[in-house]
Amino acid sequence: GKHRVVSTKSMPGTRWIRLLTDNDCRLEICTEPKTILSVDDILALIGDRCDGVIGQLTEDWGEVLFSALKRAGGTAFSNMAVGYNNVDVEAANRNGIAVGNTPGVLTETTAELAASLTLAAARRIVEADKFMRAGLYDGWLPHLFVGNLLKGQTVGVIGAGRIGSAYARMMIEGFKMNLIYYDLYQATRLEKFVTAYGQFLKANGEQPVTWKRAATMEDVLREADVISLHPVLDKTTYHLINPERLAIMKKEAILVNASRGPVIDEVALVEHLKANPMFRVGLDVFEDEPYMKPGLADMKNAVVVPHIASASKWTREGMATLTALNVLGKIKGYPVWGNPNQVEPFLNEEATPPR
Ligand code: GLV
Ligand code: GLV
Repeated sequence: GKHRVVSTKSMPGTRWIRLLTDNDCRLEICTEPKTILSVDDILALIGDRCDGVIGQLTEDWGEVLFSALKRAGGTAFSNMAVGYNNVDVEAANRNGIAVGNTPGVLTETTAELAASLTLAAARRIVEADKFMRAGLYDGWLPHLFVGNLLKGQTVGVIGAGRIGSAYARMMIEGFKMNLIYYDLYQATRLEKFVTAYGQFLKANGEQPVTWKRAATMEDVLREADVISLHPVLDKTTYHLINPERLAIMKKEAILVNASRGPVIDEVALVEHLKANPMFRVGLDVFEDEPYMKPGLADMKNAVVVPHIASASKWTREGMATLTALNVLGKIKGYPVWGNPNQVEPFLNEEATPPR
């Protein structure tokens, strides 16, 4: 192949590999066993000739790497993620490097994980599993692992973009929850779905579901029984959930985060979990991954999983394929598919801008 393309990690599936090698690319997949590559590790991979790189969300893609890629003759970078807070897009632009991400293919998979965390927290699945395995179950009891019923409660969604909207639909259709959401954009299709589903339920003699677009984020936090966070991480969403906002949430609320860790002040969250044993949380992401803030691992009212929201086979193979298409597209002069330059905070692909 005449184009040298580097992938900093092995990725699922083979389609992405064939796409590159069938189209004049010589692919090098890094075999370094350590999980998180440093900037120096990646500089060594780029070397003095490299046309494009497929990188990971654990890597710091800034001026140092983009200028090195430029010096190596490179023009293309793709993050294997929809989020790109690890990428300095301005630095990429300065160095003439196109940047791609992987939206779309992970929407439903990520929403399903957020739904899983919601159910696990509501019904205390992890606590109950540990109890069972510890041999503590000695018979049915009226008080054993009593949790929350979702039906008829209100689900709050902060950031009703692709993933937030998919999660909302799952919780509304699956569990007949009412919706309150906060987003800079109106989630028109989601609103229409809830209205139509509400009419369907009513026609069948059931309590209809309702929706409300909140004027402020605080309205969502105050009113919702379950709150799921789906914003983009940037300066405006860093520590979006802070002590003041935790304080206005219901004492028995469930908070779910499958977006980015720094959206929550995790130290404040640990304090809140300690002070409010009925408050439960489901977390896929953490402020200082791979670490958890002190005390979080001891909290029974927290369900924690290691950033696996997009981890279905179909989605991971799809993400890998998109990264190859992104890099190949730039090298071959096709449009870059997932271009973060077109993505905005709380972007909703089905939204209309605010008036
Ligand atoms: C994963 O966290 C992603 O942004 O795709
Ligand atoms: C519980 O197992 C019940 O039958 O109510």
